[in-house]
Amino acid sequence: MSSRTEALEARQRKHIMFTWSAQNTAMPVRIAGGEGAWFHDQDGRRTLDFESQVFNCNIGHGQKGVTDAIARQAAELACAHPAAVFESKAALGERLAAITPPGLDRFFLCLSGAEANENALKMARIITGRSKVIARRRSYHGASMGALSLTGDPRRWAGEPDLWGVVRTEDPYCYRCPFGQQYPGCGVRCAEHLEHVIQMEGPDRIAAVFIEGVTGANGGFIPPPEYWPRIRELCTRYGILLVADEVFTGFGRTGKWFAIDHWGVVPDMVTMGKGLTSGYAPLGAVALRSDLADTFGDRVLQCGLTHYAHPISCAAAVATLDTYVEQGLIDNSARLGPVLAARLDALKARHPNVVGDVRNLGLWGAIELVEDPETRVPLVGYNQAPKPGTPAARFKAKLAEKGLHILFKWNFVFIAPPLCISEQDLLFGLQQVDDALTEVFG
Ligand SMILES: Cc1ncc(COP(=O)(O)O)c(C=O)c1O
Repeated sequence: MSSRTEALEARQRKHIMFTWSAQNTAMPVRIAGGEGAWFHDQDGRRTLDFESQVFNCNIGHGQKGVTDAIARQAAELACAHPAAVFESKAALGERLAAITPPGLDRFFLCLSGAEANENALKMARIITGRSKVIARRRSYHGASMGALSLTGDPRRWAGEPDLWGVVRTEDPYCYRCPFGQQYPGCGVRCAEHLEHVIQMEGPDRIAAVFIEGVTGANGGFIPPPEYWPRIRELCTRYGILLVADEVFTGFGRTGKWFAIDHWGVVPDMVTMGKGLTSGYAPLGAVALRSDLADTFGDRVLQCGLTHYAHPISCAAAVATLDTYVEQGLIDNSARLGPVLAARLDALKARHPNVVGDVRNLGLWGAIELVEDPETRVPLVGYNQAPKPGTPAARFKAKLAEKGLHILFKWNFVFIAPPLCISEQDLLFGLQQVDDALTEVFG
């Protein structure tokens, strides 16, 4: 007799396809409900969420303040024109303006992070009258065609040829510096390289530079302190719009509302999604400087889809933003950042044969596994899955066995629990990772 979860999965598999998976080997997330940092399946089996579903469930599971707000909104107004006026939309604008970098107080509401980037790209081209954009090599900006074209990572390959006009700059990946340098002697070449790219491509042909606040699931590269200020300087000097993609790192993931707040940099636009509603309803947003938004005062803003700024999503976002504040979740992420850092350092010291590097900012952490710490050859290669029977495959299976929902991708293990996690649960989850390393690699 199959469990309730297995029976349900078999029923669903008949008709519904999975995202980003070969359908026959897809490993679905078995979730029927949850509370805080934990969720459970239809048979009550509990899992510690070390990936916040897909890096979006920042406030954690079962937040009643948000589900009640959604229910109230659904009862009052569930369907409205995307250009409609209603209370939760107005309130959302006010809430966002209170937390975004100074001067970025106008918002365009869409459906997801990809669409936020899609719209930012279109707006940047319309505003500047230029068509090229610069994005980083190891980046992800979403799976719709424009956002995918901005994306540097291999998720772009299947959709090639992508849109014309995206040029690449290199990443602040200090452990594997693309220039073979070491910080601080490097002079932050990765930031300086942007100027070279701008000059080679023609400054007056480049509309925008898109950069993740801190790299997401391409490796969690935390830039050196000089990086973001230098990128800002270069964009200002050449009149190029700077777009910070905070879809992944926004809403407390790194211990501040937005990752760029760590460096006091004010971009021209910020794109957001994920933690904006923490996955309780679909929503994305572009924050713009008001003078940029004003360029659409007398000119039509040629952007929009039927379900944009949906009432239920707006209500979910307002309640989510209130939850961050009322429950002190951004502070909790900041407070637990050093706890996570200390444990990651200890993990590296205990497993010197396989842990090459660890890094984190707030509750966003990455463990980089290597075949040999001297050569730094990755345990699993770029864009590869662990080969069956290898230690990497056994390690992946162990993590699942231990009841962790966690992303082990290529040679990276990512740590991103909901921001409401307790110190005890954080340490418990990290101990599971530590045990899995010991059991497989000694
Ligand atoms: C940095 C970044 N930008 C954009 C996106 C796309 O967001 P969505 O999948 O919600 O459209 C993601 C998703 O992982 C992301 O990590």
